[in-house]
Amino acid sequence: MATANRLEGIGEYYFSTKLREIDELNKQGRNIINLGIGSPDLPPHPAVIQTLQEEAAKPNVHGYQNYKGAPALRNAFKDWYQQWYGVTLNADTEILPLMGSKEGIMHICMTYLDAGDQVLVPNPGYPTYRSAVKLAGGVCIDYGLKAENNYAPDFEALENLDLSKVKLMWVNYPHMPTGQLATANVFSKLVAFARKHNILICHDNPYSFILNDHPASIFSVEGARDVAIELNSLSKSHNMAGWRVGVLCAAKERVDEVLRFKTNMDSGMFLPLQLAAAKALTLGREWYNEVNAIYAERRQKVYEMLDMLQCTYSREQVGLFVWAKIPATYKNGYELSDAVLYESNVFITPGGIFGDGGDGFIRISLCGSLTRFEEAIERIKKTIIETRDAQTASR
Ligand SMILES: Cc1ncc(COP(=O)(O)O)c(C=O)c1O
Repeated sequence: MATANRLEGIGEYYFSTKLREIDELNKQGRNIINLGIGSPDLPPHPAVIQTLQEEAAKPNVHGYQNYKGAPALRNAFKDWYQQWYGVTLNADTEILPLMGSKEGIMHICMTYLDAGDQVLVPNPGYPTYRSAVKLAGGVCIDYGLKAENNYAPDFEALENLDLSKVKLMWVNYPHMPTGQLATANVFSKLVAFARKHNILICHDNPYSFILNDHPASIFSVEGARDVAIELNSLSKSHNMAGWRVGVLCAAKERVDEVLRFKTNMDSGMFLPLQLAAAKALTLGREWYNEVNAIYAERRQKVYEMLDMLQCTYSREQVGLFVWAKIPATYKNGYELSDAVLYESNVFITPGGIFGDGGDGFIRISLCGSLTRFEEAIERIKKTIIETRDAQTASR
């Protein structure tokens, strides 16, 4: 069957293909250690699971739900934004719960883009921005993010572009894959840029609690609500990636506009899940500290692995990954990733999947137990490093 034109140039999501290959390798007995994907391996807080169990046992919670989300969940997001981001939102009009922030990316593109509308997308950046723009008929205009500029947008270069057809700009801090935090200055400049050029800034914010003590929202900038939408998520912050709970925050008009699209796509979220998510949002600092202590310990192992591979990296990164520059002995991140996969049975993500700005990099996820990291280090040591040392000795 011929597929629709809109699928032209849209491949299957990289991880979907790669995970299939890893499955095949595992069937051959390879027991691959997957340090690629950012799906938290730790469970949610027990009180969250208990709320889900208790609520799901009730007889009257199984019907279709409100399209705008349960008031309890909207209020919990409101309190969460107030407590952690210092941002006041209206729970009735400015908060729209989502089934994960990924669907929000598509909803925003479908709500605002006409064929040919241009969208600024970060390179490197989360690949879904690019595919959602294309699926909605838009055209991606990459803006490069460079280490020497702290992975902030180069506003001078942006001002030199023809921006007349640019309708949206995707922005994501803490940035994935580079782990870079935004300074308040970057958010202020973005808001001013958006205002000047009548561009809607879409800020995607799922990593602000991971290895970061100062979560920041673009709405902390005066006037941001006139020009920005923010997406957030419980996937990483609360170890609930499989639950699919996220949120869109914006001015009432934007929420209403996105709802026009979204109400045609789904019929609300399972109420017990919403109530359990609301419970998760009430967790205090101990929760974030506990999770982050585990990630910090794992990150030390990742540093060890990267040192062994002669990669270079910043120790100032936050979020669920470590981003590292590969040594000149490899052509690009794909070559290093393949070497580690086929020789050491360890999968790490090549930076090139995030755009050509990531070609010389790799990304390692912190979602694995300490023993998995130790095992991965041993495997790499016994294969790639021993071969390298033997080659050096024979020269
Ligand atoms: C930058 C970024 N945005 C959004 C998402 C999607 O998260 P969610 O699980 O909330 O859909 C991810 C997931 O990996 C991500 O890395």
